[in-house]
Amino acid sequence: MKRFSFILSVLVLSISFCQSMNAASIINTKHNLSVHGPGSFVAAAEEQVCIFCHVPHYASPVAPLWNREVGAVSYNLYASSTLNAQPGQPTGATRLCLSCHDGTIAIGMILSRPDPVPMTGGATTIPATSSTNLGSDLADDHPVSFPYTSELVSLNGELREPGALPAAIHLEDDYMMQCTACHDPHKSPYGDFLVIDNRNAGLCRACHQQRGWDSSSHATASAVALDACNNCHNSHNSAVKERLLNFVAEEDNCFSCHDGSVSNDNIAADFNKFYNHPVAATTGVHEPHENPLSSAKHVECVDCHDPHRTNSWSASAPTVSGALAGVKGVNRLGVEVAEVSYEYEVCFRCHADNSFSDTVVVSRQIEEVNERLRFDSINPSYHPVVAIGRNPIVPSLLPQYNPSSRIYCKDCHNSDSGSRSGGGGADGVHGSIYPHILLARYENDTYPLSYSESNYALCFRCHDPQILLDRDRSSFPSHRSHVVGKRMPCFLCHDPHGIPLISGATTTANAHLINFNTDYFTGSYDSVEKSCNVSCHTGPHDYRSVGP
Ligand code: HEC
Ligand code: HEC
Ligand code: HEC
Ligand code: HEC
Ligand code: HEC
Ligand code: HEC
Ligand code: HEC
Ligand code: HEC
Ligand code: HEC
Ligand code: HEC
Ligand code: HEC
Repeated sequence: MKRFSFILSVLVLSISFCQSMNAASIINTKHNLSVHGPGSFVAAAEEQVCIFCHVPHYASPVAPLWNREVGAVSYNLYASSTLNAQPGQPTGATRLCLSCHDGTIAIGMILSRPDPVPMTGGATTIPATSSTNLGSDLADDHPVSFPYTSELVSLNGELREPGALPAAIHLEDDYMMQCTACHDPHKSPYGDFLVIDNRNAGLCRACHQQRGWDSSSHATASAVALDACNNCHNSHNSAVKERLLNFVAEEDNCFSCHDGSVSNDNIAADFNKFYNHPVAATTGVHEPHENPLSSAKHVECVDCHDPHRTNSWSASAPTVSGALAGVKGVNRLGVEVAEVSYEYEVCFRCHADNSFSDTVVVSRQIEEVNERLRFDSINPSYHPVVAIGRNPIVPSLLPQYNPSSRIYCKDCHNSDSGSRSGGGGADGVHGSIYPHILLARYENDTYPLSYSESNYALCFRCHDPQILLDRDRSSFPSHRSHVVGKRMPCFLCHDPHGIPLISGATTTANAHLINFNTDYFTGSYDSVEKSCNVSCHTGPHDYRSVGP
């Protein structure tokens, strides 16, 4: 019975093959290894085409009438921490392809002949130096020889159901995914024997359904749209095995274009500035599945950007903009979120309960490095990042702001040369010439300091210095006498973030972002009495009655 169906299948095979020979056929491809073949790897005299792979008689017990030894090679398999599939040693068509493409068996060595078919130039195996030789290390190639099942689809979450794949994608029995899911060895209308044109990710997207990909800048920008996934991933011989990427140092996968060469956004320029997010400090620490509440100190581009999803949609505070779309974060309650809704949730991954910036920058009465606690809306005062601010009357605010306004972390922490700062460079919390990656100058370590508007340029982006320093219009009439007269910088009295209730802040002592610096004076503030009792003065000072 077996033999019969075997012969039957030969007939069926040849007929269906002859029918499909007309249009795109094997004749014009590199798999025409006969003397008439178009490639450089061809026979010296052999005229038959199919013979290098099939033979009607004497074939090996391997279907379809295979005319080659299938090696007993043990392969190194693809593995990664994000892979759900479980690739096994090559089976089915994969083994057939590898009978030439692992480079171990001479191309002319066929079962139906006692001696190998002589090849031009005496060639034997595909040379190890050729990119078409995959070797026995399949760990740097797209995974194959595993069942592509509905279970896998639900584990992965971003794959198409096997039953809904385009007709051109062919899985073997039991949903086995083989080389032939992507390649048809008999025809090559799109090059590389691909079954679907992979321009604009046509082939990859037949299976991979990355959320947000279609509107991502990496799918739409004309400089990169055509090569799409292949800009960052390799199907074979990838330099980096895990996730088939180009460079071991995570950020280099991005700098290859974001260094002023391909993308208009030259991000490398900002990372070269003195104060930056240290993306080059660690390699191999970032793990896509990491738990943000316990991960080790590191930061990479992909911690803040999802390369499959990032897009140019703008937003207003606190909503996350398209550039950061789809990344994971930690919310205002300290709980991990799979996809951020608000920008600060990205920052809270590494600057809140699991803080990587764990040293106090300015000594203050109440010190806290957990930014989630500092911006908490239960506090007596805070800048309105996580919630609307506490103070209904803030006279100094410039016309574009009011006490109900919300602001972003990036309104203060950003490139000094991006569009937000009025420059022509890229935006982002990447790097700045100013300490603490601040977007503009803010003096916070020298006292006394002669007054100049530029010393506090950061604050004056939102607060009008004319009003602040005007005793009749400012809510603290003595701003001018202190800041200009006594040459006191803002940081001596104010905390730029907020003062946590949980660490002892009170409405009396810590309203209006008052959190005294402790390097130069001691004392207390009373927001109800509107007075200060500090070592600089003798006795409590009521500022309602103090002149300029
Ligand atoms: C370079 C190797 C190679 C050459 C040359 C080759 N084939 Fe194939 N052929 C294969 C492989 C591998 C398979 C198994 C594909 C699969 O399982 O999808 C196959 C399968 C087939 C099938 C089964 C149908 C199918 O797609 O499953 C037919 C029919 C066939 N070949 C006919 C031919 C004919 C006729 C020729 C010569 C004109 C030829 N092949 C040349 C490698 C080759
Ligand atoms: C009989 C040996 C043999 C078998 C079996 C074989 N190939 Fe090839 N294949 C070759 C040779 C030889 C080349 C040309 C290599 C070169 O020029 O570097 C080639 C080239 C290719 C190329 C590159 C095409 C191009 O246009 O550059 C792809 C893709 C490919 N094979 C895929 C496969 C797949 C997939 C299978 C299994 C379904 C397979 N091959 C089976 C011998 C084989
Ligand atoms: C998920 C899809 C996919 C699978 C599975 C796959 N390939 Fe490929 N392969 C590609 C694509 C796409 C290319 C085109 C070149 C590129 O993008 O790297 C390619 C290119 C090739 C090349 C040409 C390489 C070159 O540099 O010229 C060979 C040879 C090849 N594949 C063989 C195989 C073999 C053998 C298998 C199974 C072990 C296999 N492929 C499995 C997608 C795939
Ligand atoms: C025929 C379907 C199919 C096609 C086409 C396909 N893939 Fe895959 N790919 C898969 C499956 C299934 C997995 C395993 C997913 C899993 O384990 O969750 C996978 C895994 C991967 C992985 C490894 C993921 C990891 O977590 O380690 C990468 C990278 C990848 N594919 C990239 C590509 C690229 C790039 C293309 C286009 C050249 C492509 N794939 C085309 C089905 C496909
Ligand atoms: C701009 C570069 C870039 C492009 C374009 C890109 N990727 Fe990725 N991809 C990455 C990086 C980087 C990772 C690893 C992310 C990490 O370490 O957190 C990744 C991870 C993956 C993974 C592993 C699982 C996961 O989702 O994290 C798969 C599968 C994948 N990419 C497939 C694709 C496919 C398919 C395309 C095209 C539709 C594509 N990628 C386009 C850079 C890119
Ligand atoms: C092959 C080139 C290339 C690579 C590699 C690349 N990008 Fe891009 N990226 C672009 C282009 C082109 C744009 C669109 C903006 C433009 O026109 O310059 C872009 C846009 C972006 C945007 C802005 C979204 C928007 O439009 O506002 C972000 C964020 C981004 N890329 C992050 C990354 C990250 C992270 C990586 C590494 C994982 C990366 N890119 C790798 C070419 C690339
Ligand atoms: C994946 C982790 C990670 C994420 C997400 C992250 N950061 Fe950072 N950040 C770091 C690391 C690591 C440092 C360097 C700490 C050090 O110098 O020891 C740093 C440093 C900083 C600094 C400089 C601190 C100083 O002492 O000068 C600022 C400001 C900053 N980050 C702001 C932000 C903002 C705003 C966000 C959200 C848009 C953010 N970070 C998101 C990891 C992260
Ligand atoms: C991006 C705009 C922006 C920047 C930059 C900014 N602020 Fe504010 N600030 C606001 C807004 C909006 C409020 C109103 C919050 C409210 O109503 O409670 C505010 C309120 C305040 C308050 C009053 C808080 C209260 O509870 O009474 C103080 C004090 C303050 N800012 C100081 C500063 C200092 C010092 C700087 C520079 C380090 C600065 N601000 C930079 C937007 C900004
Ligand atoms: C109103 C401007 C402003 C906003 C908004 C702001 N910061 Fe800051 N941030 C500063 C200034 C100024 C410093 C410098 C230290 C100082 O003067 O206390 C700083 C310092 C830091 C530091 C260094 C360590 C520390 O605690 O001093 C980190 C980390 C940081 N900011 C993260 C953030 C995050 C995360 C957000 C949003 C949740 C944010 N910042 C919002 C102005 C701001
Ligand atoms: C700590 C978080 C963080 C890290 C790390 C980070 N970015 Fe960004 N990136 C941002 C923020 C925030 C923006 C601004 C988004 C906005 O303005 O809406 C941004 C914007 C961008 C943009 C768009 C610029 C523009 O003007 O539209 C690109 C491109 C970009 N980042 C690429 C990168 C690359 C490449 C890396 C790594 C080398 C990287 N980013 C690392 C937070 C980060
Ligand atoms: C000597 C301490 C001190 C210094 C120095 C100081 N402030 Fe204030 N500031 C206060 C006090 C006290 C209040 C609260 C007044 C009230 O509402 O009763 C205040 C209120 C404010 C307010 C909110 C009310 C308004 O008028 O809009 C802003 C904004 C502000 N300060 C910004 C600044 C900036 C910017 C600097 C540095 C250029 C600065 N302050 C320096 C003590 C100080």
